[in-house]
Amino acid sequence: MTNDRLSTDHLLGIKYLTVEDLQLIFATADNFKDVINRPIKKVPSLRDVTVANLFFENSTRTRISFELAEKRLSADVVNFSASSSSVKKGETLLDTVNNILSMKVDMVVMRHPAPGAHHYLSRHIDANIINAGDGTHEHPTQALLDAFSMREKLGDLTGKKIAILGDILHSRVALSNIFCLQKLGAEVTVCGPPTLIPKYIDKLGVKVSHDVRKTLEWCDVANILRIQLERQDIKYFPSLREYSRYFGVNKALLDSLDSEVVIMHPGPINRGVEITSDVADSDQSIILQQVENGVAVRMAVLYLLAAQRT
Ligand code: CP
Repeated sequence: MTNDRLSTDHLLGIKYLTVEDLQLIFATADNFKDVINRPIKKVPSLRDVTVANLFFENSTRTRISFELAEKRLSADVVNFSASSSSVKKGETLLDTVNNILSMKVDMVVMRHPAPGAHHYLSRHIDANIINAGDGTHEHPTQALLDAFSMREKLGDLTGKKIAILGDILHSRVALSNIFCLQKLGAEVTVCGPPTLIPKYIDKLGVKVSHDVRKTLEWCDVANILRIQLERQDIKYFPSLREYSRYFGVNKALLDSLDSEVVIMHPGPINRGVEITSDVADSDQSIILQQVENGVAVRMAVLYLLAAQRT
């Protein structure tokens, strides 16, 4: 039987969710996906709840997706962007958040470059906190929407073979996906150049590959990640051209495989580097379904965490 409450008051990372939490989020997201495909897309579930979206790092998808999810649930929404705020004048994270909370905010969705920033806040403030990405650590709602999309395409993920390809070293999406997919019983392989695979990642129970063709031959789903140049202070490979040649996924490579692999990418895409346009835009790709599912999954997370307040 599925529980009707989460085991936690915050979404700090997938690591802290139980399998029952994951199933509850997916079941709730199934319902919200129906809602957002109706002519009237709005429900009153979060009326009188105020949510602050605090983005200390750039975002397109996550930020818009959370704001839409909040508005579809009838929450009051305030948006904060570090680049146009008093953070530039030297204000600390805790002061910034406490000032916003003084205005009676109930939930905080935050993206921050420092791994662990959300854990720190959760020890100091009363609001429910949702991690929208903390540095190279976790991006839990991305992993939830990825797993929800895989489940929609393939059914139960037990025993399914999922490959995560690209810059694993700097990716919060990779770590959250690994935790989520393993809890759901899937097998995970990470694939990329040796310099972009963290040492000892095999200790998490994943397989490691440096051979894209063999990895694609093995997997049911390939979740392709971009090279995070903004987090790289040294050169991890000779050139983007060489990366694309040895680690990029192109149509000729996919067409030469015996079976059809489901192609995913969390975005933003660097077309022509980790993935060619004819793959990103092909029928094998579910990249835009991931984005659509993101709203339903985030509605589920917001709804379930708000219920923890009652
Ligand atoms: N996938 C993702 O987190 O995209 P954004 O950085 O645009 O939010």
